[in-house]
Amino acid sequence: MNAILPLILLLASAALAASAADAPAPKADPVAAVYKSKCASCHAKDGTGNPAMAKMFKVKPEAMNLVDEETLAAKDEDLAKVIETGKGKMPAFKKDKLKDITVADLTAYFRSLAPKKEAKP
Ligand code: HEC
Repeated sequence: MNAILPLILLLASAALAASAADAPAPKADPVAAVYKSKCASCHAKDGTGNPAMAKMFKVKPEAMNLVDEETLAAKDEDLAKVIETGKGKMPAFKKDKLKDITVADLTAYFRSLAPKKEAKP
């Protein structure tokens, strides 16, 4: 009996570890998928903006950076509006273009790409 208890504990913790590993991988995230397919070409996978696109559009690279201080300071509603209605060379993404996700999901997503403040030296 005494030998079985540690074994049970071991199995239980293995089961817990396995269920944690079952959590959806980031690449299965539908919002990330939409961002990658519809936004990353201009705004880069990490949200910092694609300098070649900025050059082509003749806009400042900062205008396309979604993770800089200025964009982080902007209100969610205002950013969502830019996505929905477009701005300059930024195309409008109407709800039907975005499948099941919302502009708010996208705003939250690119905000999550921003480097964490604590990570700065
Ligand atoms: C064809 C290129 C292109 C694509 C694709 C694109 N954008 Fe943009 N986006 C731009 C440009 C250019 C600007 C800068 C507009 C300006 O200020 O003149 C911009 C600006 C923005 C801004 C405002 C940033 C700020 O600091 O005010 C947001 C938010 C944004 N884009 C989100 C998105 C999202 C989300 C997607 C995908 C659904 C997307 N964009 C797809 C080109 C693009």
